Amino acid sequence: MLRLGILVSGGGSNLQAIIDNIKSGYLDKCKIATVVGSKSGIYALERATQNDIPSKVISRRDYSSIDEYDRVLSEYLKSSDVDLVVMAGFLSIVGEEFVRSFQNRIINIHPSLIPAFCGKGYYGIIPHQKALEYGVKVTGATVHFVELETDSGPIIMQKAVEVRPEDTPETLQKRVMEQAEWHILSESIKLISENKLRVQGRRVIY
Ligand code: GRF
Repeated sequence: MLRLGILVSGGGSNLQAIIDNIKSGYLDKCKIATVVGSKSGIYALERATQNDIPSKVISRRDYSSIDEYDRVLSEYLKSSDVDLVVMAGFLSIVGEEFVRSFQNRIINIHPSLIPAFCGKGYYGIIPHQKALEYGVKVTGATVHFVELETDSGPIIMQKAVEVRPEDTPETLQKRVMEQAEWHILSESIKLISENKLRVQGRRVIY
């Protein structure tokens, strides 16, 4: 059984997709061991409670250094026997100590087709705003392994979504979540749970 530690910062729609896919049996080799919120009061934590999933708030601002934050986050996830860390709309920056403590066992969903519209400062609605400003005809979402540099690790899966003339950042974000994020994150987790992924340099083979 692959034990998941899901890190969240917002509404938790990606978390909900994983919960639903476990319930449906699609993710039959996975169990959510815990949900960690970067702050309290976010609906993602409510979704965990509704589904009897242990949760905890570990907020970066409560720790004086990124090393201390990394250590607390890592120790909590290890105490929950987490095998795979899933950043699902997670907005806190993790440091080298955390990335090393879960080497090649942290994945993230980013709301663009990396390497477009990614990196420092590109989160939430911003990638969609930038995609519309640039005038791209296609955007989408990317699941990738997490390395130290933001949005830089080997790409596991991507899914393209059309940009429509009438789109606003909000309508585009909604379509990218519905048509891409909520699907490829679970599909990537399933491949990992079935040990079907191989990382060769920057390429992820399956
Ligand atoms: C959304 O902007 C999504 O595109 C990104 O994180 C934000 C919140 O997602 N991945 P969620 O509803 O909390 O999963």
